[in-house]
Amino acid sequence: MAKDKSIYTCTECGGTSARWMGKCPHCNAWNTLIESAAEAASGGKNRLGSAQYQALAPSSEVLPLSQIEAADFDRHPTGIDELDRVLGGGMVEGGVVLIGGDPGIGKSTLLLQAVDALQRGGMNTLYVTGEESGAQVAMRSRRLGLPDSQVPVLPEIQLEKILHTLQTRQPNIAIIDSIQTVYSDQLTSAPGSVAQVRECAAHLTRTAKATGTTIVLVGHVTKEGALAGPRVLEHMVDTVLYFEGDTHSNFRLIRAIKNRFGAVNEIGVFAMTEKGLKGVSNPSAIFLSQHSEPVPGSCVMVTLEGTRPMLVEIQALVDSGGPSPRRLSVGLERDRLAMLLAVLHRHAGVACMDQDVFVNAVGGVHIREPAADLAVMLAITSSLRGKPLPKGFIAFGEVGLAGEVRPAPRGQERLKEAAKLGFKTAVVPKANMPKKGDKAFEGLTVYPVERIEEAMQVVRGLD
Ligand code: TYD
Ligand code: MG
Repeated sequence: MAKDKSIYTCTECGGTSARWMGKCPHCNAWNTLIESAAEAASGGKNRLGSAQYQALAPSSEVLPLSQIEAADFDRHPTGIDELDRVLGGGMVEGGVVLIGGDPGIGKSTLLLQAVDALQRGGMNTLYVTGEESGAQVAMRSRRLGLPDSQVPVLPEIQLEKILHTLQTRQPNIAIIDSIQTVYSDQLTSAPGSVAQVRECAAHLTRTAKATGTTIVLVGHVTKEGALAGPRVLEHMVDTVLYFEGDTHSNFRLIRAIKNRFGAVNEIGVFAMTEKGLKGVSNPSAIFLSQHSEPVPGSCVMVTLEGTRPMLVEIQALVDSGGPSPRRLSVGLERDRLAMLLAVLHRHAGVACMDQDVFVNAVGGVHIREPAADLAVMLAITSSLRGKPLPKGFIAFGEVGLAGEVRPAPRGQERLKEAAKLGFKTAVVPKANMPKKGDKAFEGLTVYPVERIEEAMQVVRGLD
């Protein structure tokens, strides 16, 4: 059979070219042309028009919404509670899940545990491994304490062979570890290239929709932390999960970035043990480092992820810098840090212009919510002055450009968690102030603030 011809499509404007060029001839963008297989002239029955429309594949008649049956999806709970929580209750039949994360963070471990639990529950599963040999996977299963695992393993990286196995075995759940190692014969580019990843993911997605097999794709992340391969991969699949956490610490978080079958703000929390990943059902205090005495530059905040409040320590180090001082942040947005420093200067008179500022969220968590602002600013000020915040101190609240402190969603729940863990003092936005006499906050003195300078003043008065 003659090979399909390749065309090169621009990721910016969608223009095509018959050969690769550094610059797109249509929109003049650089390095945007990627290879894909050209549609066969005969209408190309085995080619996809656009992967995104596959969910709609079987053409059906037009019906008003009220007449379409809204059956809930058939879910397969994995039995791993923390994973089911982020998935919104389990893997969905015909759903495609993309799971990304740094190397060595535990993607293969978690999926092997999940797929083994499903196989034991009577599901028909398949584990396709492209990165490791069958022996390596077997070794991992022994290590996980699953020596009698019945999970069928296929070491394979060629898409057509994987599709064939999926067709013949018709598993309920198939894991592809990883999508970057899979390649299709139809394209000449190397495995892991954007074109290959996109093409293979599209074929696998179509298979999932057509057969009802749940497919889990493992994806690599780039140095910048984004899933390698085109963003289009995230559009194609139903659910995108990210692993985060420090590979050196024991805790791992799984966050849903996108979920067509559930909420996206849920996170799952795991601890890496000798026997694989174990769910942590009460994660509120795991991201605190234990100082015997308060140290300058550390402030604890309460984040609320999904349904559970968590206490996270924010650390800051302010040190005299050179002519162009550095601003670095780990686990927090750097642009936001620059903004907070400007607000600190303008509204609270705290100047860090000639200082290096480093900020870190302990334990490798990524904090995306602005409620961290107040804690970040208090940690910075504490480090700059070399003066620790009092023992048992927490703060949260968003800080605006005008220096106002805005309320955090569900502030009372956050305060309750802090009180439960024995924290003594809290500085919070005024609107998050609990009612007087509520027993749940006993032992916690709460200071409401409306502006950043007010917060600074409260902290200066504490000792
Ligand atoms: P792995 O699942 O191979 O990571 P990924 O597929 O995301 O690259 O995880 C590998 C790490 O986990 C490795 O550094 C060893 C550690 N580990 C444990 O600590 N306990 C275990 O039971 C297993 C299987 C792995
Ligand atoms: Mg792996």
